[in-house]
Amino acid sequence: MAPECHAVIVSRIEAPRDEETSNLTDRLLAGLPPEAVLTDPDVTASYANDMASFCPSGAPAVVVLPRTVEQVQHVMRTASGLRVPVVPQGARTGLSGGANATDGSIVLSLTRMDRILEVSPVDRIAVVEPGVVNAALSREVEKHGLYYPPDPSSWETCTIGGNIGTASGGLCCVKYGVTAEYVLGLDVVLADGRLMSTGRRTAKGVAGYDLTRLFVGSEGSLGIVVRAVLALRPKPPQQLVLAAEFASSAAACDAVCRIMEGGHVPSLLELMDRTTVKAVNDLAHMGLPETTEALLLAAFDTPHPAADLAAVGALCEAAGATQVVPADDAAESELLLQARRLSLTALEAVKGTTMIDDVCVPRSKLGAMLEGVERIGAEYGLTIGVCAHAGDGNTHPTVCFDAQDDDESRRARESFDEIMALGLALGGTITGEHGVGVLKKEWLAREIGPVGVEMQRAVKDVFDPLGILNPGKLF
Ligand code: LAC
Ligand code: ZN
Repeated sequence: MAPECHAVIVSRIEAPRDEETSNLTDRLLAGLPPEAVLTDPDVTASYANDMASFCPSGAPAVVVLPRTVEQVQHVMRTASGLRVPVVPQGARTGLSGGANATDGSIVLSLTRMDRILEVSPVDRIAVVEPGVVNAALSREVEKHGLYYPPDPSSWETCTIGGNIGTASGGLCCVKYGVTAEYVLGLDVVLADGRLMSTGRRTAKGVAGYDLTRLFVGSEGSLGIVVRAVLALRPKPPQQLVLAAEFASSAAACDAVCRIMEGGHVPSLLELMDRTTVKAVNDLAHMGLPETTEALLLAAFDTPHPAADLAAVGALCEAAGATQVVPADDAAESELLLQARRLSLTALEAVKGTTMIDDVCVPRSKLGAMLEGVERIGAEYGLTIGVCAHAGDGNTHPTVCFDAQDDDESRRARESFDEIMALGLALGGTITGEHGVGVLKKEWLAREIGPVGVEMQRAVKDVFDPLGILNPGKLF
């Protein structure tokens, strides 16, 4: 049996009965073409979950796939009129159940709104629809000599709308920051169908409250993003990667501290522990060194990356690295990154199921965090592989377990929670980039406290007075 989320989905909306569903479908069809309205239960069921499959989800009444802003407005007017919950979705690569359907809901998939509307090298912006795939945007702007940095491991499939919904990070954040830093302005369809523009397409702007930032990471609970103005950077030189092997995670974390303290600005600083390295080798035969306890990947995209890597390599050696191997060229560098991006998929193959934590601690506490995770793994008798955006202090302790084994499933959930408790005790946050969804609702309350929850709920009520937008998520 799968472990249950502690969270219970609470909705102010009752699931519609059959005749209500057909009324709902008719009303939706009044403003949407037939191919944009899916009602076959076998098909709609396939939209029920994101990738955090051990969170509760319900059966959607209908899935809609609009192509225009007007169609999204029609969906929201209909939903408000009938008081039906709406669950916005992108590619469903999320890891917290934030895109999981609730019973009787309208799943609003934005994947068909996938046009890149504009790329301006002078303004250094792109204007996109929410269903644009992250990698498609990266490749398009590259043609203009530009760079869209946020790069979640799922970048080949995840959408910009989903990235905005969960405030995604990725491998490049240690130098370039997270999605929030690139969202300048948004067009949002509100719960009642009105269209609101936030933010700007200018380099600066302080007119009023920063509603753009409020929407980034709001997990579809405040409105439907239908267009985004994104900041771009000039394309940096190709990055070169170095791999450093360590006899302990503690030594690797010490190297991270030395690198950051030394004022270096790597374009990537990632850690894979021995379990993760072995899992990746088992899955993809990458030939990573399995005899080390921790592998650190550092990269520079500076004009002289070899010199920067040499300096960082020396710091790794000072921290006790047993071997430091710079990649020969861009192709070898890319291979190392591919290995890192495969970490979660590879860990899933260890025992069939994983629960991935996303705790982010101050960098100075990274060593204590990894030491604690090791202790928790031993206490619960579980394999917990760790990969981490080490340069950000953002760890992904990944509990590997057999979902058929009830006792192991229970221990997996308990250890997953204990890892979040450890993160908070170290001054960190329960989620650096995957969001709260349904998976970490209780933990959000623990992190921000009752006053924080009350104020966040008040904000939610302003935008969503009927409680129809992605109910049961976050709180
Ligand atoms: C990663 C995803 C799991 O870092 O956030 O690979
Ligand atoms: Zn990550």
